[in-house]
Amino acid sequence: MNQKEHPQTVEFEAWASYFTANLARHERLDALIPWDTPCALPHRDAAALARSLQRFELGEGGEGTGLLARARSRHDPAYDAALKLFIAEEQKHSALFLAALGHLGVEPLGSHWSDAAFVRLRRLVGLRTEITLFLIAETVAMEYFLALRRSDDPVVQGVARRILTDEVEHVRFQIDQLRAGFAGVPRPGRVVAASAAWVVAVGAATVLAIDHGPALRALGLRPSTFWRRALGHFGRSAPLAFRLSRRVAPVGPMAEPREHPLQPAGSGQRTVVRDCRG
Ligand SMILES: [Fe+2]
Ligand SMILES: [Fe+2]
Repeated sequence: MNQKEHPQTVEFEAWASYFTANLARHERLDALIPWDTPCALPHRDAAALARSLQRFELGEGGEGTGLLARARSRHDPAYDAALKLFIAEEQKHSALFLAALGHLGVEPLGSHWSDAAFVRLRRLVGLRTEITLFLIAETVAMEYFLALRRSDDPVVQGVARRILTDEVEHVRFQIDQLRAGFAGVPRPGRVVAASAAWVVAVGAATVLAIDHGPALRALGLRPSTFWRRALGHFGRSAPLAFRLSRRVAPVGPMAEPREHPLQPAGSGQRTVVRDCRG
């Protein structure tokens, strides 16, 4: 492979290998989700959580056709392969949320304005901006998944643990894509791009805090606390992604991907009900 023609190939080969190796880890973590356990949440909390998970189920199920087509303009086969595997991971997340909805006794949504708006926005922009939107969505949602892992329900916890393990790496993947995309852009251009991304991130965190507020409260997290922490996740990633830190090398996948352990379930004082439908 000619490195002059495909300058990003080496780092994205590492990503394609990571996503391929991840398939075995998925099988192992999926097997740990206790799907047969009855729902352990009070009806009100289960309903709030279900309404929130419905939107995540929709948001993660896209086929990424437009994204893959735009990515081909980079003429980097390793990048195309990594991106395809990344989209497959997101589709698996959607399937896990769908199964979690079944556990909570709720049907999936056909559509939701927030998902439709995100998809429409992504179609209007170029590859770099689309990846920026992914970085924003994934860093902002990180705090939501961390809260989900503290749910009193073992199935919800198991799903959150499985998805979190992927999402930490997805953020690193978006950072490397943006580092490659901004490689030839002078610093003032990168500062403008980072500033615009901050505006969108603040908006996204605000929408999520309001729209998913009842679920956040059911998980024991105040929406204002969520908002602050969510932007903290974005704030730690943005300097790397927009090449505003001193780092020269790509971040790459973690040598030892961090698997999030299950948390002790909440206060343990909640009423255990056998049917979340109430
Ligand atoms: Fe995801
Ligand atoms: Fe993701």
